[in-house]
Amino acid sequence: MILTAKSIRERSLLGLKDLAASEIESILDRAAHWDKQEEKLVPVLASRFVANMFFENSTRTRFSFEMAEKRLCAEVLNFAAAASSVAKGESIYDTVRTLESMGIDAGVIRLKPEGVLAQLAEKVKVPLVNAGDGNNEHPTQALLDLYTMRQTFGSLKGLNVSIIGDIKHSRVARSNLWALQKLGANVKFCAPDMMKAPELEAHAPYISINEALKADVVMMLRVQLERHDKGIDMKAEEYREQFGLTEERAAKLNPSTIIMHPAPVNRNVEIDDAVVESPASRIFPQMSNGVPIRMAVMERALLL
Ligand code: CP
Repeated sequence: MILTAKSIRERSLLGLKDLAASEIESILDRAAHWDKQEEKLVPVLASRFVANMFFENSTRTRFSFEMAEKRLCAEVLNFAAAASSVAKGESIYDTVRTLESMGIDAGVIRLKPEGVLAQLAEKVKVPLVNAGDGNNEHPTQALLDLYTMRQTFGSLKGLNVSIIGDIKHSRVARSNLWALQKLGANVKFCAPDMMKAPELEAHAPYISINEALKADVVMMLRVQLERHDKGIDMKAEEYREQFGLTEERAAKLNPSTIIMHPAPVNRNVEIDDAVVESPASRIFPQMSNGVPIRMAVMERALLL
């Protein structure tokens, strides 16, 4: 199959901000198809080579992409920056071009520097799938989040979603904001001042923790200590008291409210240990849903 520049762009998934609502829904619908599939292995991507290129650490995203690709019988190459020539100073661009030269059909990529993914997508001739780029977007995480909400509520239209925590550094918050609003949900943020993203205020209001907990979906975010250049002027216990989903707060949620978190979780900081595995929590179903979502995304990148 020869891919034209246009089809490469259409098959890539760089973010949800510019993706049409119909495209998002079609990925969710296709994920539902794969979710129902009982056969573990389906050879739809046989003889397609996919490179998973992770320049930043990951557990869930990396393994669920690999699981999804292997379930579709793709040939999978896993690249870990620490064990590569990146450790000798090779650039992300040269690394991706190297794998492209060897004949990969698609690349899944996670990286830290802002703007590099968009530049790469202009230059490489295979579809690229964003597995998380800096603070910008994490589209497959948001897709699996939407899928999880749809599983519970049927539709996203009119759903009230509160995203609580480190909004400033969250690519998950951004991808969810863009996609949820396209599908008719109401998004509100809650964060301490140092974790607010002022540029997002025009898109979603910041509200108090008590207001935020009245939503249909309460999405907690990890405090991303590694992204705060100047550290955090708040102790973990203070953060928990002011913004954490404690057992006490969770007990007051509406009975129909669901609790989400993209994980990894700082237990007993942004969310109490007992709440992570409480009946209202969808944290582990979110992880399960990552596989059918990524099957749909890789099929779209390589086949449909
Ligand atoms: N949710 C998420 O992106 O987790 P990982 O960093 O483990 O991939």
